[in-house]
Amino acid sequence: MFSDKDIAHFSKLETPFYYYDLDLLQRTLSACRAAASPHGFHVHYAMKANFNASVLKKIEALGFGADCVSGNEVKKAIEIGFDPKKVVFAGVGKSDKEINEALDLDIFCFNVESVQELEVINELAEKKGKKAKVAIRINPNVDAYTHANITTGLDENKFGVNSWDLPACAEILNISTSLDFVGIHFHIGSQITNLDVYKNLCVKVNEFSNWFEDHGLKVSVLNVGGGLGIDYHHPDNQIPDFESYFKIFATFLTVRTDQEVHFELGRALVGQSASLISKVLYVKTGKKKNFIILDAGMTELMRPALYHAYHQIENISPRLAVDGSQASRPQATSADHINYDVVGPICESTDCFGKEIALPQTFRNDLIAIRSAGAYGEVMASHYNLREDVRVVTSDSY
Ligand code: LLP
Repeated sequence: MFSDKDIAHFSKLETPFYYYDLDLLQRTLSACRAAASPHGFHVHYAMKANFNASVLKKIEALGFGADCVSGNEVKKAIEIGFDPKKVVFAGVGKSDKEINEALDLDIFCFNVESVQELEVINELAEKKGKKAKVAIRINPNVDAYTHANITTGLDENKFGVNSWDLPACAEILNISTSLDFVGIHFHIGSQITNLDVYKNLCVKVNEFSNWFEDHGLKVSVLNVGGGLGIDYHHPDNQIPDFESYFKIFATFLTVRTDQEVHFELGRALVGQSASLISKVLYVKTGKKKNFIILDAGMTELMRPALYHAYHQIENISPRLAVDGSQASRPQATSADHINYDVVGPICESTDCFGKEIALPQTFRNDLIAIRSAGAYGEVMASHYNLREDVRVVTSDSY
């Protein structure tokens, strides 16, 4: 939802741009913290969802840790001010350079995704005379019932160590003097809206935790990853139901008093806080189809092209002139809506934000908001077609 002041401001700016509502972000983060604290749960923000500096600073200021998936994310988190003791480093393909740099930065732990990676971290830590803290990321073979392209915890996915490779990990961990085993890690997928999925995950976490303890390895941290979904169909002021989410883990996880439970939320923390604001370049009316051609495309927001992801699209241009001086257009009722395919300018047929979207009659230069774009939006932008760097406007800048 945008105020008249927001829209008046947007209309003076060069489009397209991401608009960040920092107040909504703050409220979302506070709600998450308030829901996690009574259980003593620790949340690491999954930085891959959005690494805009204004966003990161707010998250760091509220005491969250950082979950990183590249050496550059680790460096950026620490640069922003995240305590290295609250930085974790996951990812199936950490390079030697990235591992060495993270060892030098004394991060909290590496979430290790294969037996071979465990051997490499062991070797590199040994060379430095350091002890690397490691958690084993286990692929629990739990179905997240989400989009096939963003599910990660099934046997056929590349992520984590499969159960049959755990004895080899335990053997290395039990003899190594350069590895410090801290616990186990899971992440089964993203945009999970069926919370029962997490009950199934808890059952597996309990089983694997017992397995490690039975093999002489003390599990201090249970890291259950992230994945909590957001409601893309209701973007206005939607704060995810963190209480129900954390309650599932509090109920179904077996946690000893000396164990910590860690989470890695990305989308749920930042997803609703941004919209992509774009201008209509052209409207093409046809016999079978009407097209709205925007100045934003898959280069700014890739999710619809990549996953057929739904984002609510709104025409936010004023429908009536306030003072009568502007050329006005009739206030739209739902009967006046026209179905449009809303597309971008990129030379690809998949550059489409939505098909047959019902919108009030739309004109050249109208402003269009593509909602719920705070997670995996700006960070996945590209320069394809030699497009410009994506612009950003924050709510505290006017
Ligand atoms: N932890 C790990 C190890 C992950 O791989 C991810 C996300 C997260 C945590 C955070 O998940 P979240 O809470 O944000 O669901 N680009 C896709 C999403 C990819 C998710 C990758 N991993 C999209 O636009 O939907």
